[in-house]
Amino acid sequence: MTAEKRVRSEPKPGEPVPDLLPDRPTLKSVADVAADCKACDLYKRGTQTVFGEGPKRATLMLVGEQPGDAEDLAGHPFVGPAGKLLDRALEQAGINREAVYVTNVVKHFKWEPRGKRRIHAKPNAGEISACRPWLETEIALIRPRALVCLGATAAQALLGKSFKVSKQRGEFVPSSLAPLVMATVHPSSILRAPDDESRRAEMDRFVADLKKIAKELPREPGRSERRQTSKIARE
Ligand code: URA
Repeated sequence: MTAEKRVRSEPKPGEPVPDLLPDRPTLKSVADVAADCKACDLYKRGTQTVFGEGPKRATLMLVGEQPGDAEDLAGHPFVGPAGKLLDRALEQAGINREAVYVTNVVKHFKWEPRGKRRIHAKPNAGEISACRPWLETEIALIRPRALVCLGATAAQALLGKSFKVSKQRGEFVPSSLAPLVMATVHPSSILRAPDDESRRAEMDRFVADLKKIAKELPREPGRSERRQTSKIARE
C-alpha cells in the first residue's frame, strides 16, 4: 500500500517556522518547506530561500549571516566573492569544503537598492529570531562535532548579544550547540581590508582559526586516498 502523501498548503505570510516543520524532518524535507517560508518579510525582497548545504554527516558546520547578492541569485550559500575567499581559506587550513555543512543565520538576502545595485542590509533581531528554527533544525539533524560562527551576526545570534568577535575570535567557547564551538571573522571583512598587506594578515589569522578547528576534526581522506578506498570497496 502506498502511503498517502500529505498535501501541505503554501505557508501564509507571518506563519512561524515551527508550524511549517515536518513531523519527521530530513535535510531535504526541511529545505523544501523552507523554500516557501514567509515567516518574516524578507521573502518579499529575496529571489529565493538559500538553505544550508553539505553532507548530512558533516563534522563541521559553518554559519554565516545571510546570503549575499550572488547567493540570492544562485540559491546556494557562500558562492559569491566571500564564498570564494572562504574556499581558499578552508583549503589552506586543510579542510575539504565538500565535507562541511555551510549555512546562514538568515536564509533570505536582505538588501537596499542603491542605483542599480542591491546593497547588503543587516538583518534585524525579529528577522533573525523568525528564521532561527531553520538553523536549529539544521544543527539538530547534522549534530556537527564543531560549529564555527562566521562574523558578529552569527556569533551574537548563537553565542549571545555580548559576544565580541574582535576579542574572542579563535577561542573555543562552551556551548550546547556542539562539542566544539568557535567564532571567527566573516570572510567578507577580509575582502574589505583597506590594502593588500592587511588583507594578507587578516587572511592568515582567519586560516589560523580554521586550522585550530581542523586539528580537532577526524581526518578527511584526500582525493587519491578516496579513489583508493572506493577501488578497494569495488574489489
Ligand atoms: N555572506 C554570508 O554570510 N553568507 C553567504 O552565504 C554569503 C555571504
